[in-house]
Amino acid sequence: MTQIVVTGKIPTAGLEVLRSAGFAPKAWSQDVAMTREELLQQVKGAEILVTLLTEKIDNELLGAAGAQLKAVCNVAVGYNNIDVAACKSRGVTVTNTPGVLTDATADIALALILMVTRRLAEGERVIRSKQAWQWGMHYMLGSGITNRILGVVGMGAIGIATARRAKACGMSVIYYSRSEIDSKIANELGAKKVSFDELLSESDVVSIHCPSNESTHHLFGSAQFKKMKNDAFLINTARGPIVDEQALVEALSTREIAGAGLDVFEFEPKINDGLLDRDDVVLIPHLGSATTETRNAMAMLAANNAVEIANGRSALTPVS
Ligand code: GLV
Repeated sequence: MTQIVVTGKIPTAGLEVLRSAGFAPKAWSQDVAMTREELLQQVKGAEILVTLLTEKIDNELLGAAGAQLKAVCNVAVGYNNIDVAACKSRGVTVTNTPGVLTDATADIALALILMVTRRLAEGERVIRSKQAWQWGMHYMLGSGITNRILGVVGMGAIGIATARRAKACGMSVIYYSRSEIDSKIANELGAKKVSFDELLSESDVVSIHCPSNESTHHLFGSAQFKKMKNDAFLINTARGPIVDEQALVEALSTREIAGAGLDVFEFEPKINDGLLDRDDVVLIPHLGSATTETRNAMAMLAANNAVEIANGRSALTPVS
């Protein structure tokens, strides 16, 4: 029987997919993640790994698993935790979980847009810290998003879903993307494809939805913040390393941009100290896909990929 190792605690729904297909996965069941040493031990002899985005799947780990390893099925749509080239050179298939977390992540992007533009977290802090406050004509004014421009960086499924939500709030949409989008969707959204520089200079809110890889590492740095409007906001629900976090702190301090809503961080779970005391940023702990139904669907899709591969069939959602 194919040896499947699940390296982190995943929803039971995912384990049930594996068990009902006749496999007996070796699954980590503790809430606390394995240490690297434990991980290197656990993967020994695995033919298929079901992994979490917090686990670094690199040459060392692939070597520790052994030459029999066939696949790494990541329970995430992003797979920057996996050295895909190293997997490829060893003949190891990599899969991810596109589609099932699109709406959950786009909801969080919209939530961050509203939270940061309307100063909602800041307002909540006032109440919770029992500070004196009173309704006032000039009290805690934010920026409305109606008739403002959303610039989407990376117009894949999550970018499109975020654009739809923003359009429903009265925003117009421009986007910068490697790939063309379906003309029907572009028409429905009235979305205009622009260059990266145009997106930076025209957007009132920039929302990041591209993958994290070598070409997008620090896509946002001081030069890009300088090109953005001084009253624009940056939203990141994709991956932390796309933004140079120190440059972001500096851009906020010098009022190059007006604020940021962040679900992901460059050195996650560590947060740059310069962000922590700022009222113009909203910081949430990587909750993009964090709904029960989404996490179940992610675990089930990763498990179904494992089942297909274990049975000698093609993966359902291989990466590239
Ligand atoms: C979550 O961040 C994911 O990539 O699935």
